[in-house]
Amino acid sequence: MSLGMALHSQAKGRIIAVTSGKGGVGKTFISANLAAALARHGLKVLVLDADLGLANLDVVLNLYPKVTLHDVFIGRAALADAILPTAGGYSVLLAGSGMIEYSRLTPEIRQQFTHTIEALAPHYDIVLLDTGAGISDVVLFSISMATEVLIVATPEPTSLTDAYAAIKVLATQQKRRQIRFVINQAQRPGDGRAITGQLQQVLNRFVSTGSGDPLKLVHLGDIPMDGAVRDAIMRRQLLLTTLPGAPASLALAQLANKIRNLLSAGA
Ligand SMILES: Nc1ncnc2c1ncn2[C@@H]1O[C@H](COP(=O)(O)OP(=O)(O)OP(=O)(O)O)[C@@H](O)[C@H]1O
Ligand SMILES: [Mg+2]
Repeated sequence: MSLGMALHSQAKGRIIAVTSGKGGVGKTFISANLAAALARHGLKVLVLDADLGLANLDVVLNLYPKVTLHDVFIGRAALADAILPTAGGYSVLLAGSGMIEYSRLTPEIRQQFTHTIEALAPHYDIVLLDTGAGISDVVLFSISMATEVLIVATPEPTSLTDAYAAIKVLATQQKRRQIRFVINQAQRPGDGRAITGQLQQVLNRFVSTGSGDPLKLVHLGDIPMDGAVRDAIMRRQLLLTTLPGAPASLALAQLANKIRNLLSAGA
């Protein structure tokens, strides 16, 4: 049984890894704002900065924690002391930044990470893991702890090529059969649906899951390219709470609805 499956059966909440093949596609922006949209439904949500060593959720949220995941990992602080409330109505657990020791997956990191997630998950309806990009050991390990995977990509060919590579690794190494997909910075309505269809065809042809079951890419929605996103990040504010009517905010609210429905349907 994989670790992800083991957690799935024990935990109260779902653990969703927000990840991507290519960096800079909007994972942190989406995690921070999607959490706020889910919290508006009354769900108890935690966002964990799983991009150990290169964290920037703190920057997006304008939080300067005294205690980070790093302090918890080295035994300098208790887990409960590292959890902070946010203006978005959810909690965060922030990692430190600039720590080279987290660029390589060691048995200690594995153990600490697993222990942290196992201790946290039962207390929340949804835990979002804002992961690093790519297919390094650390990133793949953080994804392995999630019950669901949400891949973020932009419509650019470089981002899609890297998304394909990440999906392929997750299908073969982690035996994932279902991967959720969001297109960010979409230029036109319908972008994401068309891209998902094309990517699914390539996956059907070239990626074998081993068991014969096809890998299903589930398009959850598009978030449009929206100048308000950059402005909100520059001001270090949550777009969803400060500009709930912005096109990207409306798309995030829709995405939250969809995720909530999927989870309550047990899909
Ligand atoms: N929908 C959008 N419209 C316009 N700009 C966007 C949108 N989404 C993200 N951006 C821009 O992309 C930048 C990068 O986003 P973000 O930091 O969330 O990416 P990331 O995937 O977490 O990056 P990393 O891989 O470095 O962790 C943001 O600072 C913002 O300027
Ligand atoms: Mg990020």
